[in-house]
Amino acid sequence: MNSRMNLLLLLLPLCFGIASSAAIAPDTPSFTASELDDIETTAVLLLKNWSTHPSFDSPAITTEGSAGSSVPLKKTAVPEAFAQSTMCLDGSPFYFYIREGDPTKVALFLQGGGLCIERKDCEHRATTSQGSSEDWEEELYEENNILSQDPSNPLRNYTHVFMRYCSGDTWTGTNTLESGPGRFSLYFSGHNQVAAALSHLQTSLDFGSSPDSHFFLSGASAGGIGTNNNCDFVASTLGPLVSVKCSPQAGLFFPSNTTALWQSRMGISSLTTNQIASIYLSRMFAASLDVSCAAAASRNGDPQSYCWEGSYLTPHISTPTLVAQNFWDQLQIDNILCLQDNLDRAKCTKEFLSDFKAHTVGQLTSLSASQPLGLFLPSCFTHTGNLCLFNNGGDEGPTVVGGTTYLDSVRAFVEEGELTSKVDECEGEGGDEEYVPCNQVCDMHCG
Ligand SMILES: *[C@@H]1O[C@H](CO)[C@@H](O)[C@H](O)[C@H]1NC(C)=O
Ligand SMILES: *[C@@H]1O[C@H](CO)[C@@H](O)[C@H](O)[C@H]1NC(C)=O
Ligand SMILES: *[C@@H]1O[C@H](CO)[C@@H](O)[C@H](O)[C@H]1NC(C)=O
Repeated sequence: MNSRMNLLLLLLPLCFGIASSAAIAPDTPSFTASELDDIETTAVLLLKNWSTHPSFDSPAITTEGSAGSSVPLKKTAVPEAFAQSTMCLDGSPFYFYIREGDPTKVALFLQGGGLCIERKDCEHRATTSQGSSEDWEEELYEENNILSQDPSNPLRNYTHVFMRYCSGDTWTGTNTLESGPGRFSLYFSGHNQVAAALSHLQTSLDFGSSPDSHFFLSGASAGGIGTNNNCDFVASTLGPLVSVKCSPQAGLFFPSNTTALWQSRMGISSLTTNQIASIYLSRMFAASLDVSCAAAASRNGDPQSYCWEGSYLTPHISTPTLVAQNFWDQLQIDNILCLQDNLDRAKCTKEFLSDFKAHTVGQLTSLSASQPLGLFLPSCFTHTGNLCLFNNGGDEGPTVVGGTTYLDSVRAFVEEGELTSKVDECEGEGGDEEYVPCNQVCDMHCG
């Protein structure tokens, strides 16, 4: 019997394991050690090309300000009490980058940049500035997104916090010096770093102590995943005087009920890509999961780890949220779901693309009717490329959906508390819009 068959036989009982897990203690994943090993093997095969996507070079941050952006974000140490629980992957200290503005208003951005999947890429990451603070500059600028100093940025006068990504854990990890190091002898502290930032703001600015305080949380890609995962945590930590708003950019990993095209060839079709990724990653990171989502998972007899990923988590986010997401997330499609390497030259079919869009748009649209969820969904095939506030790189204007830009949507959200639902309705040639992007501008050089 070949190893694929073995895997199939091992995973079959898993379906039943999940179905009957309702009675198991809520925080215990209902998997045996050998089932977890098989999930790990699959997850690594499935996700490995996600760790090294070329769009993770973060062109958005620079060390030189342009004209009119003269005030840098300054490297700032974490509070002493958090020093032991917030290290970067390699154990070096974490730092915030802060630009002080209005002390009653804070905009915080979670940087993206892939994630740690397997030993090889995690260990490599720990030697770079995406896993170590060793070479972090004293000052930075981030001028095309929510921390831009452009006069038309509605968050222009907020206190700005740039969270540089060195945990590889999509901002969900909870490793501490006492509990860690974790997997591969590395530290996964992304969630703790968010907690440290809130504490720092509360202590140094007395943030959250006066009524009419505002907090805007956003992030792109891995930072978008982190935005979803930390949104309600931020709101509950900051307390009732602070109006919290969240906006994940390209953070929907994955659309509901996604199955990678080649998964069945591996003999694994009993779990979705969403579930495989969630189980493996949240275990590796010791992920802090949304409290109401985890409780709902227990009630449904699902592993709580399912809450790591966007389609399972989003229905449980109660803080007002503006989702910016393209119809076709190119990173997911090219590097994970239809990856040629994994598929022996098979193509990502029209059916697959049209299902992918239907799942992305369908779930978000239906949720926006029943919870405080705004949408900015362009008919584009790209990852984060067009999902930022300012186009600082090209001649073309910004991506427009239903007459509105993402900047317009953020402005209405920030200034009026209004959540708009913008879902592209452009027309493709010959009805191709079910699987062919039809927005006129899908690249704003957002990084
Ligand atoms: C996927 O990753 C492998 C190495 O892990 C690499 O050889 C291959 O070129 C990658 N494929 C793509 C499409 O990036
Ligand atoms: C920021 O503050 C300046 C100076 O007080 C003011 O002119 C401007 O309108 C403010 N911008 C926003 C977006 O609030
Ligand atoms: C996912 O699939 C299950 C089973 O087919 C279905 O009950 C559920 O509604 C689907 N979820 C979404 C969000 O489409």
